Amino acid sequence: EKSFMQCILTIGSSFSESSENTLFINSSSILYPQVLESLKQNPRWVNSSSKPLLIMTPSHESEIQSAILCSKEIGVQIRVVSGGHDYEGLSYLCKTPFIMIDLINIRSIEINLADESAWIQAGATLGELYYKISKASKVHAFPAGICPSVGIGGHISGGGFGTLVRKHGLAADHVVDAHLIDVNGKILDRKSMGEDVFWAIRGGSATSFGIVLAWKIRLVRVPPTVTVFTIQKTLEQGGTKLLHRWQYIEDKLHEDLFIRIIAKNSGANSKTILTMFNSLFLGEKDNLIRIMNESFPELGLQEKDCIEMSWIQSVSYFAGFNKDDPIELLLNRIVTFKSPFKAKSDYVKEPIPETGLEGIWKMLLKEDTLALLIMEPYGGRLNEISESEIPFPHRKGNLFNIQYFVQWEVNSIEESNKHIKWMRMLYGYMTPYVSKSPRAAYYNYRDLDLGSNKHDNTSYSEASVWGIKYFKGNFKRLAQIKTKFDPQNFFRNEQSIPLLNSLP
Ligand code: FDA
Repeated sequence: EKSFMQCILTIGSSFSESSENTLFINSSSILYPQVLESLKQNPRWVNSSSKPLLIMTPSHESEIQSAILCSKEIGVQIRVVSGGHDYEGLSYLCKTPFIMIDLINIRSIEINLADESAWIQAGATLGELYYKISKASKVHAFPAGICPSVGIGGHISGGGFGTLVRKHGLAADHVVDAHLIDVNGKILDRKSMGEDVFWAIRGGSATSFGIVLAWKIRLVRVPPTVTVFTIQKTLEQGGTKLLHRWQYIEDKLHEDLFIRIIAKNSGANSKTILTMFNSLFLGEKDNLIRIMNESFPELGLQEKDCIEMSWIQSVSYFAGFNKDDPIELLLNRIVTFKSPFKAKSDYVKEPIPETGLEGIWKMLLKEDTLALLIMEPYGGRLNEISESEIPFPHRKGNLFNIQYFVQWEVNSIEESNKHIKWMRMLYGYMTPYVSKSPRAAYYNYRDLDLGSNKHDNTSYSEASVWGIKYFKGNFKRLAQIKTKFDPQNFFRNEQSIPLLNSLP
């Protein structure tokens, strides 16, 4: 830590005046435990010994440039946090000494309605972006994730999908430029980084290539009025049959219509499973009811179930707030209620038979804590974009994505082991019903069970065990680009893109 600070002070004589917000917090600071905890969205590693030598909150890009150069010079790793939502804590854990860069002060957002674009600095959250867009326009939006406290930096680096996915695709599909700091501390834009690197960072693990300072995105248009509904059915009310039927229509529905399903137990001693059909329609309710009567009459959608609102209110609704809650709630970066959790993901290409669903319910009912599946509809715009357009390859041929999620209260190793074991059993049970060769997974739902790099160097073939699952045929191109762009593998973590020529 001392040599890092000495180096920073030497190089950092070029620091700008904005540095007054920059903090360097070491482990003896009273702020250290508090700041570290606030950055972690998953408290599973509270007692981990893997703690940063220093937490740095740069206010200016020159400070990040210096941090990269100094980390290289003294031989420590870097971990970058934008929103801290990494499922496996890869933004704040490292097995060897490391410096943590928290981008909380690098988060300005500039909306340009004239060309329907925006520059967003990486430390901004989705909530901050959605809020800013809504203040500038009632008919613009951005197709990204549902949880407002997710950071732009990590989210776009892995894809990013939410309620607009069927109409507009992923967040990463809408990036038109970026600013990236490379291993030599140089700030590059799309032109200077070249089309290969620009391709790689949009969904292919930007963290393997450098530190993203900002993304330039293309906004999309939404109507002034949208409609939401949530219909809940227990198993006794026919939840299984409805979910079974949903699988046949969800990807073929009009692309203005997004219906996802959350199927969950109610914690310990659950008696039934609740299936929630949670929907956004880009239009008014009369049109929605007409489409639902034609495409999914079994759900029995009625006018009283439909709530008309603006797009930004729908963002609030999906974030769990009420229609009339102030939209400023979207600006809250700190998640106050945090429980340890484990998640995994799958892609489904053929509808799961009712017997298969019944087996899932049995497993959910056996688990004595909150456990759920979120099924996100695909089709629409996703089908029109080729698998190699950006590194995110899960396009045509997928009916939906499943995220498995289990959360528990007591943060002990015993509890973690118990629930993770249960999660692995559920994943095992799902094998016949999900994609094969590879059994695909979504990179933003990071899962180290799929495989993990060794600390120093992992060969391409070793890393392929997890890499092909996330990136399919794009994994090799990612490794080729990585090898050229960061040949010493400075930017690395447990699931970073490997070098092509590294030996096992
Ligand atoms: P975090 O800061 O932890 O970063 C994640 C990874 O990106 C780390 O490896 C980090 O080092 C790296 N990174 C961060 N900033 C970087 C930068 N500027 N340059 C280079 N590398 C950087 N996903 C989705 O698609 N749709 C959804 O609706 C949701 N919803 C959701 C809800 C909740 C509660 C959680 C916890 C997660 C999601 N996600 C999601 C998953 C989310 O997209 C994923 O965890 C992102 O990586 C989170 O990005 P953050 O910046 O918040 O994480």
